Amino acid sequence: MPMSNLPAHRSLYYSSLKQLTMKFRHTLIMLATCLLVFSQCNNEKAPEAAAEAETPVAETKPFYGGFDNQVEWGKHIVTISGCNDCHTPKKMSDHGPVLDSSMMLAGHPAKMPPINVNRKEMQSKGLVVSQDLTEWIGPWGTSYAANLTPDPTGTGNWKEEQLFLALREGKYKGLPNSRQILPPMPWEMFRYMTDDEIKAIWAYLRTIPAVSNNVPAPLPPETK
Ligand code: HEC
Repeated sequence: MPMSNLPAHRSLYYSSLKQLTMKFRHTLIMLATCLLVFSQCNNEKAPEAAAEAETPVAETKPFYGGFDNQVEWGKHIVTISGCNDCHTPKKMSDHGPVLDSSMMLAGHPAKMPPINVNRKEMQSKGLVVSQDLTEWIGPWGTSYAANLTPDPTGTGNWKEEQLFLALREGKYKGLPNSRQILPPMPWEMFRYMTDDEIKAIWAYLRTIPAVSNNVPAPLPPETK
């Protein structure tokens, strides 16, 4: 029925209904627009979120001081810390002492004859050292560089904790109730090595050739 034919009150009713429908439409369009914008925004974020989800969790690569592996790092620390100076016997060459490669880090050679000096006199006067720097006479008596190779006469039966105790606390054989390690072993400097550095040294020492060499026990200061 055309609206013009309606009674006045009904026509009013219909026109307000029409207005309402129009308003409702507007609201719907607004809502749809909002939804569209909202979903667009979400879509923009989506690639990022997806990328985040896909990025593999970065693997925490162990720190080896810039070296490929722990053993290489340990070798480097041992080399630059001068462990070979005292712990590896030397051979005399025409250009001075060179490391004896058959006794790398094997300590004072058991068969080497003692330094032929008056020990009592030398203890009071200063320091005497064998040509290969493995035997040391000083006010503390006589000390011999230890065998660090993984042989039972060296560190073969040690556990990693023993190296920690030897380097950090200066404990002979790395045992809690043993005597203090004698000079000139510079453990009081080495104690500042980090845990990772000591672990790397330990890893390296496991890989060097085992040399059977029973280093003599230290001698107390000469009194006669
Ligand atoms: C200046 C000489 C010197 C240097 C350098 C040196 N040491 Fe020693 N070290 C000794 C002497 C000597 C002894 C034996 C002391 C003793 O009998 O009490 C010893 C003992 C040790 C011991 C104890 C061994 C045992 O059987 O209890 C360890 C472990 C050790 N050294 C490791 C090292 C490491 C690792 C380095 C290098 C980072 C190093 N040393 C550098 C002289 C040295």
